[in-house]
Amino acid sequence: MSGTTSQLSVDGKTVDMAIKTGSIGPSVIDIAKLYAQTGMFTYDPGFTSTASCESEITYIDGDEGVLLHRGYPIEQLAEHGDFLETCYLLLYGELPTAAQKADFDYRVTRHTMVHEQMARFFQGFRRDAHPMAVLVGSIGAMSAFYHDSTDISDPQQRMIASMRLIAKMPTLAAMAYKYTIGQPFVYPLNSLDYTSNFLRMCFAVPAEEYKVNPVLSRALDRIFILHADHEQNASTSTVRLAGSSGANPFACIAAGTACLWGPAHGGANEAALRMLMEIGSVENIPKYIAKAKDKNDPFRLMGFGHRVYKNYDPRAKIMQKTTHEVLNELGIKDDPLLDVAIELERIALSDEYFIEKKLYPNIDFYSGITLKAMGFPTTMFTALFALARTVGWIAQWKEMIEDPSQRIGRPRQLYTGPTLREYTPIGRR
Ligand code: SDX
Repeated sequence: MSGTTSQLSVDGKTVDMAIKTGSIGPSVIDIAKLYAQTGMFTYDPGFTSTASCESEITYIDGDEGVLLHRGYPIEQLAEHGDFLETCYLLLYGELPTAAQKADFDYRVTRHTMVHEQMARFFQGFRRDAHPMAVLVGSIGAMSAFYHDSTDISDPQQRMIASMRLIAKMPTLAAMAYKYTIGQPFVYPLNSLDYTSNFLRMCFAVPAEEYKVNPVLSRALDRIFILHADHEQNASTSTVRLAGSSGANPFACIAAGTACLWGPAHGGANEAALRMLMEIGSVENIPKYIAKAKDKNDPFRLMGFGHRVYKNYDPRAKIMQKTTHEVLNELGIKDDPLLDVAIELERIALSDEYFIEKKLYPNIDFYSGITLKAMGFPTTMFTALFALARTVGWIAQWKEMIEDPSQRIGRPRQLYTGPTLREYTPIGRR
């Protein structure tokens, strides 16, 4: 590579490709004209070496274990701010002044109720439906209720849709939970802050007063901050691809929620807790470590490993601290699952296999223990992840829509199927 261009020689042809440099992090080779100039595509099925877009929102340094939102380290945002402050930062690019924050909180708070007929929509689900199935369905159904904020070409409608999604996700997630346990829906209470409101909608019952525990509310709010955005992960890329066709924001967020559900992605927090429960005790750990290392065994340590982090996930460190805070507040002295998690982490981090493959705990490793202690069923863990990640999906979707160079995403392929052949009538097959 020379200067700001790189050269590729293929089939005797030399093609110049521009090198674009960002503010920090790896530069990119612009291959947009490669097919036109060479008749060839690049090939990168897992997108391990592919940048899909330019973005100013989140930066991750996987080797150093760094996560910045609009330049601010996740550790400082989690320590000093609240989730709605991080939402404002992701959406607008700057930390809010006190007046801007008060106005943003007010606007979000006044969008927390959902159309009353959505409650009837829920009745169509089986009571034992997974909350994520209910959530994917109800988010998509928002397109059938909020027609006045589906025109993506109107900045005003884009902002209203963004506020509605951020504000209503806690209400929909709480309704999904209440529906599966057969309890009545609890309406949002505007006098409460965002996360306290969510806790009340999940755990209050009409039969008695519900008092929000401020320590748990602050801990959950911090957990939401940790999950808010994470560059071009699978679900964010899904939202961007859906949005590139001009689909309305509710449909795009429903698509992202569906993608997040997978156990390799946001579903890992549910899978990680189930794994810890299956391991059961510290004595069983060596057997599971061996399974994770066995190429012929599909078992993986859930909550371990990451496509980008080849160092400790900075969010996992904060999550681990939050876990201890929550267990202390709840007076849980020795949680066997936490004992297994801590010992599993200790063994894995000293094992040659995990060291060589740079596998560290990720955000999903400790989150399940915390959420279970707070009273959430395992099936709600990914719904909480989706609740928090909605602002990241929305911010990335808005950035893409407002990018003048934006076009519909349409990858190509390496075709390895049958070449041209004639149709054979059924009598001659
Ligand atoms: C999230 O992208 C994001 O930013 C996601 C996320 C976000 O905030 O949006 O951070 C949230 O999804 C976190 C990841 C949650 N998933 C899990 O915890 C599931 C368990 N982890 C793995 O499935 C895996 O580590 C992935 C999916 C996270 C990453 O997969 P990659 O990058 O495709 O890596 P890989 O599967 O190619 O693994 C590389 C090697 C392989 O061995 P070899 O084939 O090279 O011999 O490491 C091994 C894998 O077998 N490996 C593991 C392992 N993870 C990878 N071996 C045992 N246990 C594991 N957890």
